[in-house]
Amino acid sequence: MGRFDEKFKIVGGKPLCGEVLIDGSKNAVLPILAATLLVDGRSIIHNCPNISDTWDSIGILRHLGCDVVYDGSSLVVDASGAVSAPLPNAYVEKMRSSMIFVGSLLGRFSQIETIPPGGCMLGERPIDLHLKAFEAMGVVFEGGESLIKGKAATLKGTKISLSFPSVGATQNIMLAAVLAKGETIIEKAAKEPEIVDLQGFLNAAGAKVSGAGTSTIVIKGVKALKCPEYTIMPDRIVAGTYLVAGAITRGEVTLKNAKYQDIFPISDALVAMGYKIYNDGNKITLTTKGGIIRPLSLISTGPHPAFPTDMQPQFVALLSTIQGRCSRNCESMVKENVFEARDAHVPELAKMGANITVAEGTHFTIKGAASLTGAVVDAKDLRGGAALILAGLFAQGETIVNNAYYVKRGYADIVGDLRGLGADISIF
Ligand code: EPZ
Repeated sequence: MGRFDEKFKIVGGKPLCGEVLIDGSKNAVLPILAATLLVDGRSIIHNCPNISDTWDSIGILRHLGCDVVYDGSSLVVDASGAVSAPLPNAYVEKMRSSMIFVGSLLGRFSQIETIPPGGCMLGERPIDLHLKAFEAMGVVFEGGESLIKGKAATLKGTKISLSFPSVGATQNIMLAAVLAKGETIIEKAAKEPEIVDLQGFLNAAGAKVSGAGTSTIVIKGVKALKCPEYTIMPDRIVAGTYLVAGAITRGEVTLKNAKYQDIFPISDALVAMGYKIYNDGNKITLTTKGGIIRPLSLISTGPHPAFPTDMQPQFVALLSTIQGRCSRNCESMVKENVFEARDAHVPELAKMGANITVAEGTHFTIKGAASLTGAVVDAKDLRGGAALILAGLFAQGETIVNNAYYVKRGYADIVGDLRGLGADISIF
């Protein structure tokens, strides 16, 4: 079956129970794979998730002259033979996050050529903050709207104040700055845990980066990086997705190898809904037992440590199944503040009987239903597709989720993971 024809089939109605191991983080491994270009030698990375975005990043590294060996978990990149070449259009069009290679190509070769990454279902996804930062470091761009082509005599450290704490822009500036001349200070930087992981990898290679996880990051340029060995952090969004799988089926799910300090905004929201969460170090358990599950008056997404936008579709699905016992109207509100159009999952959930109204693509009003009905639905993006699978776990009867490839971009084995918790799910 071609990868673009695969679908998920879920038969819902069963509470999920059991333990699931959380893989390495997609949004940490992608910038770290780009960072291996900065090392004139070998980088060894463990706990790399076996997802299509990892394989696409390997494709880009090989296109740029690197030797890459990957066994599905540990990955070795030898970038000693890396060359400065235009990023391959096929990857840039398919994977927006290929933009993260711009920072490391500038950092290694002081030049870049690529087509601008496309927008996607979430919104326009501009890259103005990235380009403005690179110009401040001495890059001169040519090529106009349809081409990102730039070079610098030498990259110079400077102070950059971001108008929005963009994750990608923060990471791209770090990558361009580690070998630049002098010191770079990023103000109003993104504080996501994946930024902290990138700092960990870069410092393991001998870079001098500090402040990741706060809004001010300082990078002191060094002459060269040495060969690092590093282990990727667990994926906090996969962890949150599986907690919601336990919540939406009113079951009991334990995560192994998840980091509580990365998922507290998600667990706080679940506790506010009446679920119980227990954290005993490297195991985090959600249970429905003993809780009165109720709607959420408001949940607002935002830059970390706010509630993560990458969990918004999953929570819209969960809240669609929660009526509550309140006398006044039992509605939940979700406000999406990061992307202007992260609502493609709403009409698909409506096919299953969910009662959701959306204003301006960002304000969701959700009236929980006692039950949903299985239907044929279309995944339109990664997290929206995961949300449809979660809704299928709750719905009565069979749900088919088309375009499985979107979900496979960010979940290494969602079928195996959910089956291990007792779900009736397959891919065909
Ligand atoms: C990263 O995307 C993640 N992707 C996204 O996860 C995540 O949703 C997002 O951060 C926010 O947390 C990866 O890490 C690979 P941003 P990124 O730059 O870096 C605007 C998933 O499902 N903006 O923080 O692209 C932008 O339009 C994916 O795993 C500008 O205006 O996110 C958006 O509204 C989806 N100009 C907001 O900032 C810029 O130059 C957040 O974007 C850059 C961004």
